Amino acid sequence: MPTKELPWVIKYRPKKIADVANQDKAKKEFIEWLTAWLHGKPSKKAALLYGPPGCGKTSMVEAAAHEYGLELIEMNASDFRRREDIERVAKLAATQMSLFGSRRKIILLDEVDGISGTADRGGLNAILELIEITIHPVVMTANDPWDTKLKPLRDASKLIAFNRLTETVVARVLSYICKSEKIECDDKALRYLAKLSDGDLRSAINDLEAIARGYGKVTLDLVKALVRRRDREYSPFEALRNLFMSKYAWQAKLAVTQTNIDYETMMQWINENLPNQYSDPEDLWRGYEALSRASVYLGRIKRTGNWDLLSYVFDMMGAGVALARMKSKYRWVKYSFPQRILLMSKTKQVREVRDALARHLAAKLHVSSRIVKSDYIPMLQIIFVNNPKYAARIAIGYNLTENMVKYLAGPRSNEVLRYIRELKERGVLEEEKKEGEHVKRTRRTSRRSGRRSSGKGTQTQLPF
Ligand SMILES: Nc1ncnc2c1ncn2[C@@H]1O[C@H](COP(=O)(O)OP(=O)(O)OP(=O)(O)O)[C@@H](O)[C@H]1O
Ligand SMILES: [Mg+2]
Repeated sequence: MPTKELPWVIKYRPKKIADVANQDKAKKEFIEWLTAWLHGKPSKKAALLYGPPGCGKTSMVEAAAHEYGLELIEMNASDFRRREDIERVAKLAATQMSLFGSRRKIILLDEVDGISGTADRGGLNAILELIEITIHPVVMTANDPWDTKLKPLRDASKLIAFNRLTETVVARVLSYICKSEKIECDDKALRYLAKLSDGDLRSAINDLEAIARGYGKVTLDLVKALVRRRDREYSPFEALRNLFMSKYAWQAKLAVTQTNIDYETMMQWINENLPNQYSDPEDLWRGYEALSRASVYLGRIKRTGNWDLLSYVFDMMGAGVALARMKSKYRWVKYSFPQRILLMSKTKQVREVRDALARHLAAKLHVSSRIVKSDYIPMLQIIFVNNPKYAARIAIGYNLTENMVKYLAGPRSNEVLRYIRELKERGVLEEEKKEGEHVKRTRRTSRRSGRRSSGKGTQTQLPF
């Protein structure tokens, strides 16, 4: 991935401890604790860095690992749930030197306050045991370390407090980024962005990037028009960014629930933007699979009135979609507004089209309309959105109406419809069929050949 596509929060992440803005006291305490570890006996075997979001906790550990040449072993809250995982990964790391010579390690258990309730007691005990036996520094981070369940961890650790970053510090970092990116920016705008961020540099940088990439400059008017305070519900644009940037399941779930739109509309936003964000086809497939499950659960809720299932809907459209990304790297993309879908969903038309499509395909595929809706339509949507040329062939093969094509292709309907027109005009399919027959006849002369599709058989060749 070219550097220019790296999200700025990653591109401008501190490379060494000195790059971490502000936090002088925390830096000093952390360096003292770490050097004590590396030179012999530390006061405590673990350190617990705590403070508000986006103030540099994780960044500092990563920068320290880099600066001191330590191998960083990172685990996050969702890993803590499974005691076996902690034992397998962390304890192995904690008791062994690196495979590659004597390179030392630092173990980061990020966001330990993600551990909740009795279900995670096993995980908590495993961490305590890890601290007991480790031969490498163990660092934990948390936003709120004062929860009673974390007391045993507090007792076992050196506590290092991180401050909320001030507006001046946030504005200074933003200004540095603008200069490096050669983006025209107005100091008042940066100051305002800093104010809105409430000390969360991650969100301030993300806002700055969104405006700069969208408009090429950052002015006070733009900031006022586009950015709102953080302690509230997020716009779908922000919610999507939060979702796709989530490292943890709970963040993803939060992203889809803390929006100012309802969950059905949020689903459409994800549906529309998933192909923009995920470049790897398998990631995309997993993402759509999760989204279609969410949609199935939602359908069931509506039929049965069993609202307990709503949590699964959020799990699927949040964590399911976010964690589907295994190969594609997160990159900055411009999200689009699902205008057509939104418009259609407001009318009964969308359901009518979907039902008609389901009935139409059910007859051709010899399965029930329900199966078409749950299994085939989501697949077709992926194909139609990603490969309009191929989609056009499918549309012709299945004799789909224009509305059906629009339903499946969403933002790329125009392209698919154009290809359909072109194919029909050129009679390409007919030509190909003839060509196929010709090839078949030629092949028959030299070796046995299977039956290729007959005139009507375009349908049977399709991958589903
Ligand atoms: N003090 C800082 N100095 C420089 N950059 C920072 C600082 N704090 C945050 N950032 C920027 O914000 C991003 C997020 O910071 P980081 O991951 O360290 O936050 P955090 O304190 O761990 O937050 P959370 O509690 O949400 O995990 C970093 O990638 C970096 O770009
Ligand atoms: Mg962090």
